[in-house]
Amino acid sequence: MILEIARMGHPILEKRAQEVEDIGAPAMQKFIADMVESFKASGGIGMAAPQVKESVRILVLELREEIAAQRGFEPIPLSVLINPVIEPLSEEMLLGWEGCLSIPGMMGEVPRYRAIRYRAQTLTGESIVHEVYDYHARIIQHEYDHLDGILYPQKMQNLQKFGFVEEIKQSLM
Ligand code: NI
Repeated sequence: MILEIARMGHPILEKRAQEVEDIGAPAMQKFIADMVESFKASGGIGMAAPQVKESVRILVLELREEIAAQRGFEPIPLSVLINPVIEPLSEEMLLGWEGCLSIPGMMGEVPRYRAIRYRAQTLTGESIVHEVYDYHARIIQHEYDHLDGILYPQKMQNLQKFGFVEEIKQSLM
């Protein structure tokens, strides 16, 4: 089932989402399957559960090979991260452009840690730990912020670097 995406201004995007306690519960597994289906239909590279109006700590991401190649990044396999926790591996931060399914048509330049370690649980409840860098780290930080009720414009330092994708892409060409 395709779930509706909440856009900026919807109060669920401003709340701290709750930990998932019973990953194996049938209702939870059904929700996650719907979230993955909705994510794939959205054409995005990451989605957090509050964006489909469930205030729980779940992220889905995938950077498909053809899109990764276009942008010069490493692909990311489809991942479902439950109850993720992230920590920066250094102080180094990089500026980069981001968009968000909840702020359609717009993009902004956001500082993020270059390198992070994240821990999470998988669909089967297994614990995983990964160190990721650059664009992969950026996506996870962006999605993780959704779980704490934060949208990327709140992390921006220079609001002049916020605008409509069509206008910005033209000026970058
Ligand atoms: Ni987003």
